[in-house]
Amino acid sequence: MEIMRIDKYISGQMNGISRKDAKTLCRKNEVLVNGSVVKNSNKKIIAGKDIVSVCGENVAYKKYIYIMLNKPKGFVCSTKDGKSPTVLKLVPPELYREGIFPAGRLDKDTEGLVLLTNDGELAHKMLSPKYHVEKKYYVELKFPVQEYYVAKFEKGLLIDGGDVCLPARIEFVPENQYACYVYLKEGMYHQIKRMFNALSNEVVFLKRICIGSLALDQNLASGMCLELLHKDVEKILSD
Ligand code: URA
Repeated sequence: MEIMRIDKYISGQMNGISRKDAKTLCRKNEVLVNGSVVKNSNKKIIAGKDIVSVCGENVAYKKYIYIMLNKPKGFVCSTKDGKSPTVLKLVPPELYREGIFPAGRLDKDTEGLVLLTNDGELAHKMLSPKYHVEKKYYVELKFPVQEYYVAKFEKGLLIDGGDVCLPARIEFVPENQYACYVYLKEGMYHQIKRMFNALSNEVVFLKRICIGSLALDQNLASGMCLELLHKDVEKILSD
């Protein structure tokens, strides 16, 4: 339970309602807390305990938010602004919450599925090697994919810097000898790029398309976000 201002609560819990909209709703007597009209938007409430309704509809408290982002190139998976914009810049105001962060990193030039949340515990579990969450990537290479890569991946590749990869899977893409899918249960720095470099090849395009059973929504355009339900994200850990 958390104590916060009523306008913050409303804008944080309702899609498409800004802080300013919430103040207006209070002024117009559209906001009730525990059945009583609250005109003053400075009023503090106990989120998770007090019953809030707006325009006659209950506004349930969701402590955490889970967002699927289809990351484009050029954005970094960080919360701190540096030379390049962070993925947080792509989150629309109605989904933005204080404390959200990307659960796992993609390189600046990698595209695809990134999960953003303010649920540190779930993110930690998802990234922990204990849960073996498998990520699927679509990869395009400079030179054709070779049959012998399958065995090399299965055995665990030795990559530059002396890191040994966990066994990984590779799947061919029919009718494109330069493309493949790679399945990893870990996420070392530039891992896929380094794996293919170790095989004298080079990644020219990389996109993450699944985290466990959670697949990137095919209708989600590059740079766009989609709110997910807690139960759909939690499923990643139990599959
Ligand atoms: N492997 C890479 O090399 N880069 C990514 O962004 C993800 C996996």
